[in-house]
Amino acid sequence: MKYLIICIITLSLFTACENEDEDENETVISQNYSDESHNLSQNCMNCHVQGEGGEGWFTVAGSLYEKTQTSGYPNGSVKITSEPNASGTTIKTIEVDSKGNFYTTQTIDFGNGLYVSVYGTNGEEKIMMSKINTGSCNSCHGNTTDKIWLE
Ligand code: HEC
Ligand code: HEC
Repeated sequence: MKYLIICIITLSLFTACENEDEDENETVISQNYSDESHNLSQNCMNCHVQGEGGEGWFTVAGSLYEKTQTSGYPNGSVKITSEPNASGTTIKTIEVDSKGNFYTTQTIDFGNGLYVSVYGTNGEEKIMMSKINTGSCNSCHGNTTDKIWLE
């Protein structure tokens, strides 16, 4: 009996430790109207990568702003395509959440580069001309170049 109890205690401790393992990826994908994100404008990949504390290792993440660039533009979307001007194959469409943030942990092969465009709730569109080799949008936007924004 004593051994059984020790065994159960050891087992449950072990499971608890496993659940708290921070160095483990999980699937986290933004959706319109969800509000689980935070840190608008910060480079999400400072933390949401292997070895840092952020839950889920993002392959693409960033923030979309409204016109005044002071608050997030809610519930739009981000499209990643194989060719410039939002053309070619659509690799991924990511919904922007209610805070203006978008993120995904899905595998994305950037290969020799991919193209990106953003969409508002009334069909507004903005296209990035050059290609990207990294999905950490806020490492440039709001840092070395303008924030991403829509009317
Ligand atoms: C300074 C580090 C840091 C930055 C920068 C950061 N995060 Fe996080 N994030 C965390 C940590 C730590 C957690 C887990 C604990 C918590 O919820 O606060 C988390 C949790 C989350 C969650 C909840 C995940 C879940 O499974 O419930 C989402 C969504 C999220 N972050 C999105 C983002 C987005 C989008 C950005 C960039 C705009 C971002 N984070 C920037 C550290 C960060
Ligand atoms: C390496 C830096 C860098 C990264 C990473 C980056 N961008 Fe850009 N982005 C720029 C620069 C510079 C411009 C302006 C020139 C151009 O369009 O190529 C731009 C332009 C844009 C525009 C057009 C803005 C306008 O006013 O017309 C959109 C939309 C955009 N980026 C979205 C994104 C999204 C979404 C991501 C992440 C998936 C991203 N960018 C990642 C540097 C970057």
